[in-house]
Order: sequence, then C-alpha cells, then structure tokens
Amino acid sequence: MEREVIENLIQDSLEARKNSYCPYSGYAVGAALLAFDNDNNRIVYKGCNIENASYGATNCAERTAVFKAVSEGVTRFEAIAITGGPKGEEPRDYAFPCGVCRQVMAEFCGKDFTVIVALSKDVYKVYKFSELLPEAFGAANME
Ligand code: THU
Repeated sequence: MEREVIENLIQDSLEARKNSYCPYSGYAVGAALLAFDNDNNRIVYKGCNIENASYGATNCAERTAVFKAVSEGVTRFEAIAITGGPKGEEPRDYAFPCGVCRQVMAEFCGKDFTVIVALSKDVYKVYKFSELLPEAFGAANME
C-alpha cells in the first residue's frame, strides 16, 4: 500500500479514537477501515470502542467500523488501521485486534487484507490478515 494511504488511514483512526466511550477501562481505541463502495470508490469507515456498564456488551473499535460499513451495504475491504492507549494520552503500545474482531474480519476480509497497528502517522507496523489469523474458520469449513 502507498505510504500516503497508510498515513491517512492512521490519521483517521486517531480521530476516531477521540470518540471512544471507555469509562470502565480507560483504554481508548480507534479504527479506520478502508473499503471500496459499490461504485468502486475508496471510502473510509471510522469506529471507536463503545463500552457498557454490563461489560460484555462492549463493542471494539474494529467491529464498530466493520459493522458500520456492512450496515451501509459495503463489504469489500482493503485495510484497517488501529490505534489504542490510555484515554487522553498518545498511544504507547501497539493495539492489536482481539480474537473476536479477527474472527469478524475473517468473515469479510481476504487473506491479503492489510492490518496496520500504529502509534502515530510515522510509527506503525503492517501485517497481512493471514499472519494474524492463520487457518481461520469460515464458511468454507461448513461446505
Ligand atoms: N478493544 C478494542 O476496541 N479493540 C480490540 O481489539 C481490543 C480491545 C477495547 C475494548 C474495551 O473497550 C477496551 O479496549 C479494553 O479492553
């Protein structure tokens, strides 16, 4: 992926992170999902983590972004950038997607889907989805 596209996606995830609702963990996560809309134009869906007093009802930032896209009829995804850290502070450690989010990505994203974990626009790591969830369970397993 072009460096400029990656940097813009990280910037979007940092913006999404500002909206994190995380009064229980104090850990704010932002995600920016790069997709192709039905006219084949690139479009970005942003998401943040949304916690709940009933902790299990919490939604991760990545799933917020994926669900926003799918609910708009967009299911072709190219990449996601993720940033996370204590609310109100700059990210200090990479925020990798949790297992549930990886499984949700597996439903819609191919092996070549790109996952970017970032501390800032300049400090980031890039993975292929298949590196983060090899041998994913999917619809093909049930054929
Ligand atoms: N969280 C995410 O948003 N994404 C992940 O992949 C891991 C965890 C959120 C959920 C919860 O609001 C907070 O981080 C602490 O677990």
